[in-house]
Amino acid sequence: MEHIETERLLLRPIKLTDAPAIFDYGQRVEVSRLAGFPVNQSLEEVRTFIEQDLQKPEEQAHLRIYAICLKGDGRVIGTVNFTKEIEEDIFEIGYVLHPDWWGHGLMPEAVGALIQHGFQVYHLRKIELVTYDFNRQSQRVAEKLEFQLEARLRQRKELDGHFRDKVVYGLLREEWLQPS
Ligand SMILES: CC(C)(COP(=O)(O)OP(=O)(O)OC[C@H]1O[C@@H](n2cnc3c(N)ncnc32)[C@H](O)[C@@H]1OP(=O)(O)O)[C@@H](O)C(=O)NCCC(=O)NCCS
Repeated sequence: MEHIETERLLLRPIKLTDAPAIFDYGQRVEVSRLAGFPVNQSLEEVRTFIEQDLQKPEEQAHLRIYAICLKGDGRVIGTVNFTKEIEEDIFEIGYVLHPDWWGHGLMPEAVGALIQHGFQVYHLRKIELVTYDFNRQSQRVAEKLEFQLEARLRQRKELDGHFRDKVVYGLLREEWLQPS
């Protein structure tokens, strides 16, 4: 699993010592309800989650999770990864950022870099992204990277006692804006 560098960020495989940094945002309900996972209850739970990633076999190396680190001090501020292999040349992407760092275009930078990796290294034909219909901030990330809105999955997941719709975005290789 290669390290990926951008202007402000370094993406590298997550490791056990990242647990406190991930727990710091994983325990916040404003993050977990948008991201679609239950609030992290303990540091131990996050360590188990990281261990599961470390144990992924070689043939799932493309699904390993990257820690998003600030280049300056190496601090871990989020994660990004291909969450699913839908077809051998179509992967789904997912991401979470610590709220202290929202609004600086950092996730479009990280996702843009992993997309480049997906098209150039894994020779993907398409990348998909699924988010709650009310998650405008995640949809903005998709839009900034030229993903197209493709579908609405009605009543897809229960949240706060209601079944919420999800929306699916897709980016074809030929639509991808290659960095110059
Ligand atoms: C979605 C997310 C990764 C965006 O990352 P980011 O680096 O902040 O992305 P951007 O800086 O491009 O901001 C995207 C949008 O978020 C919104 N936003 C910006 N700052 C915000 C803040 N402090 N609070 C709430 N929303 C904010 C804006 O609508 C912005 O769009 P704009 O640039 O057109 O104004 C981040 O909000 C996040 O981690 N959310 C929780 C987890 C999640 O939703 N994951 C995706 C699951 S599919």
